[in-house]
Amino acid sequence: MKLSGNTIFITGGGSGIGRELAEALHKRGNRVIIGGRRRSHLDEVAAANPGMAAIELDITQPASIERVAAQLIAEYPDLNVLINNAGIMEPDDAAGHIDDALLVSTMTTNVLGPIRMTSALIDHLKTRDNAVVAYTSSVLAFVPLAVTAVYSSTKAALHSYVLSQRFMLRDTSVRVLEIAPPWVRTDLMNSREAEQAMPLDAFIAETMAVLGTDVDEVLVESAQPFRANPGPGEHAFVNAFNAQAAELFGRR
Ligand SMILES: NC(=O)c1ccc[n+]([C@@H]2O[C@H](COP(=O)([O-])OP(=O)(O)OC[C@H]3O[C@@H](n4cnc5c(N)ncnc54)[C@H](OP(=O)(O)O)[C@@H]3O)[C@@H](O)[C@H]2O)c1
Repeated sequence: MKLSGNTIFITGGGSGIGRELAEALHKRGNRVIIGGRRRSHLDEVAAANPGMAAIELDITQPASIERVAAQLIAEYPDLNVLINNAGIMEPDDAAGHIDDALLVSTMTTNVLGPIRMTSALIDHLKTRDNAVVAYTSSVLAFVPLAVTAVYSSTKAALHSYVLSQRFMLRDTSVRVLEIAPPWVRTDLMNSREAEQAMPLDAFIAETMAVLGTDVDEVLVESAQPFRANPGPGEHAFVNAFNAQAAELFGRR
């Protein structure tokens, strides 16, 4: 996608990947609006980046999505890019009882949220040139991490939805992109200090370089083996990955 001159709404822009992406795009000459629940985080990011705007959004609430979409269209009629980045990740136990609150909140935030957010803005985006809908999925969309089975399944669902939506929008001005990060140092799963995870600044630098090309799937180099995995060798790859992860997280 072109990396300047856009008006961009990014969900989950108050922290982690969303914040760094918002700041990188802001610096490249885009009008950036961030969304999320925690007002303090939104205010801090907006204050650190003069010109950036912030809107409170709870992606689990259809009414909040509708309100934000209406506000965006009214206040930023040039809006041409939506980045569905907000997401949550909690450990679960697919071998045992699954906490229903975890199940519902993860599915609602990671799957229903981005689908609803896009649905609320798509008619507007179709009227814009160079429109983009991007989704932050994960390499776990392609290779599940067994100790976060529900989360992994939400990202696989999102990947599937992206493929359908890209096909359905093929004759419009709207491109559909998928950003599938590897493990990155953020607050997600308390990974800020995780040595095995990719440093956030390196991830954003590499992601911006790929985002500036014309690819549909934005993958940093270390994410590519996960993307290349599906196929007849899938089970061996998934089992080996999870055996390694079990050692790391100390779980069977
Ligand atoms: N870090 C990784 O290793 C990694 C790897 C692959 C994919 N990802 C994906 O990258 C995305 C960003 O995660 P991150 O690593 O940057 O973690 P993060 O810092 O925890 O960011 C998640 C963001 O989502 C927002 N959010 C969560 N629930 C929301 C809700 N109901 N409504 C609106 N916003 C909500 C949060 O803001 P509020 O809490 O203020 O609402 C927060 O800013 C997620 O989709 C995640 O699945 C991360």
